[in-house]
Amino acid sequence: MERIVLAYSGGLDTSVAIPWLSETYGAEVIAVTMDLGQGENLDFARERALSTGAVGAHVIDVREEFACDYILPALQAGAIYEDRYPLATALGRPLIAKKLVEIAHREGARAIAHGCTGKGNDQVRLDVSARALDPTMKVYAPARVWGMTRSDEIEYARARNIAVPVTKASPYSTDENLWGRSIECGVLEDPWVEPPEDAFSLTRSGAACPDGPAYIEIAFQSGVPTEVNGVAMPLTELIHSVATIAGVHGVGRIDMVENRLVGIKSREVYEAPAAVVLHAAHRELESLVTARDLIRLKRELGVKYADLVYNGLWFTPMRQAIDAFVATMQAQVTGEVRLRLFKGECRAAGRRSPFALYDHSLATYEKGDRFDHTAAEGFIKLWGLPVETVARQAGRLQAAARVAATDAAGGSVVVDLAAPGYSRPSVVSDWVGL
Ligand code: ARG
Repeated sequence: MERIVLAYSGGLDTSVAIPWLSETYGAEVIAVTMDLGQGENLDFARERALSTGAVGAHVIDVREEFACDYILPALQAGAIYEDRYPLATALGRPLIAKKLVEIAHREGARAIAHGCTGKGNDQVRLDVSARALDPTMKVYAPARVWGMTRSDEIEYARARNIAVPVTKASPYSTDENLWGRSIECGVLEDPWVEPPEDAFSLTRSGAACPDGPAYIEIAFQSGVPTEVNGVAMPLTELIHSVATIAGVHGVGRIDMVENRLVGIKSREVYEAPAAVVLHAAHRELESLVTARDLIRLKRELGVKYADLVYNGLWFTPMRQAIDAFVATMQAQVTGEVRLRLFKGECRAAGRRSPFALYDHSLATYEKGDRFDHTAAEGFIKLWGLPVETVARQAGRLQAAARVAATDAAGGSVVVDLAAPGYSRPSVVSDWVGL
């Protein structure tokens, strides 16, 4: 009998998927529920999966792997999609696919399944990741093909005596993990409507925030955040603790119109308090310790990295290559960043590092200045040389135009353009007009 390993959240879709998969494909279903830090007690999941007809059920804690192998490289790469979205949902998908494929191999299953619909990015991320890890693995997405509405699903479950999961009626569709929370649907589908307060659960509104700012100090060792306000902690705990502090100060709310891979523009609301603070801190420290050209190249690669994460290309040589590039730069990303959190705003207030390229004796306008001011003159002469050359040429062109105009008017003035002292345009607007 065919075996299918299903990513099981315990919600209505994946609960209905258990009998649907076994009836449609004559298969045994093994449910896998993963803790990615969604802050939900998952004790119920095993029992519910088994009572819904699964032949096996696993509940696994993947928080540490998620933090170290997915969040951290994305943080170090500066991966933020379309300037705003820190990719919480997107980063979780390759890990979910990896675990499904691993468990399928262990359980002797040749297929995996998930509850994604046919409209979003998540189906692409899961399917493509699974294919990258095992091209022979079949991937089923029942919600993409069954064509049932929510009430059809409830009916389907009732007809089979399956308990319909009681979920709090939410006007939104959400996905949450350690790195943040995605909120969609309901009134949010109108991009003109401001997200109502009830869309948020990790961050306070500006009005509910404390009236004074908080300062948070993040220490990094070789690009890894290791301490918050002087207290060392493992990465998962650190992310959690930064999220708590930032959330109290309303930091991490994101409201954007984003370009989905499947071609749709969609209005997306996120709250990612830890991601917003840690990206700001890492970027700040990197600015202090990294040379100009290198950091600019890296930022371009960060955009590529965000795109590939968003587009489901985690398990690819391109991702590995950018990781390797970014890794070469992390050794010197050691030091501290102090950030000011205040009513939704997160601003770097200080930064220091033993590897800083900032040199006070070069930068200062005060005593102790070691910058060679006399060298500036020669530098500017050469730096400006191409500009000056263009300007001289523009002058010649303009003179030539005047001659042509005079000739056309029947005049007979002859100008030797090569002669020194030809008349140069005296105002910039003369040149621009050429
Ligand atoms: N637009 C985001 C993304 O594509 C969030 C998706 C939320 N997913 C969900 N199943 N509710 O990454």
